[in-house]
Amino acid sequence: MLDLAAGGGRHARFFAARGHPVVAVDRDISALAGLAGIEALAADLEDGSPWPLAGRTFAGIVVTNYLHRPLFAALRKSVAPGGALIYETFARGNERYGKPSNPDFLLADNELLSLALPGLAVVAYEHLYVESPRPAIVQRVAAVRR
Ligand SMILES: C[S@@+](CC[C@H](N)C(=O)[O-])C[C@H]1O[C@@H](n2cnc3c(N)ncnc32)[C@H](O)[C@@H]1O
Repeated sequence: MLDLAAGGGRHARFFAARGHPVVAVDRDISALAGLAGIEALAADLEDGSPWPLAGRTFAGIVVTNYLHRPLFAALRKSVAPGGALIYETFARGNERYGKPSNPDFLLADNELLSLALPGLAVVAYEHLYVESPRPAIVQRVAAVRR
């Protein structure tokens, strides 16, 4: 299981608590060090360094509230056969509710479909208003490698 841009590790902790070994990657892993079942990997994902997980694949990948489009291809390749990718982050329209409001950090219509379509099967996709944890426009996709 991979939690990319894991932050405080809310998803890493969720899966580790259910017995799934997790690799949690972030440039700041101070909140992740020493947690049982979680391999915390410090990496800057945007500085042009090679993909830090080359050659590794995962039965599950979760990315939330983080967007760096150049990683899409590496993320696709990192889904193991039979594995799943779940990606959710802010989308166009969110500027009406707060940050992020810069279009560079907001997904365009169908953008996560373009992430998943080359090689993965989309099983769920939404671009919608959510009330919780705060009003926002998000886009999310769940896709699997059959
Ligand atoms: C809004 S937080 C989301 C954390 C977590 N995914 C969640 O939803 O709770 C965004 C995370 O992306 C990480 N991040 C931002 N830029 C990064 C970079 N260049 N390399 C690695 N991590 C980065 C930040 O450190 C932060 O933990």
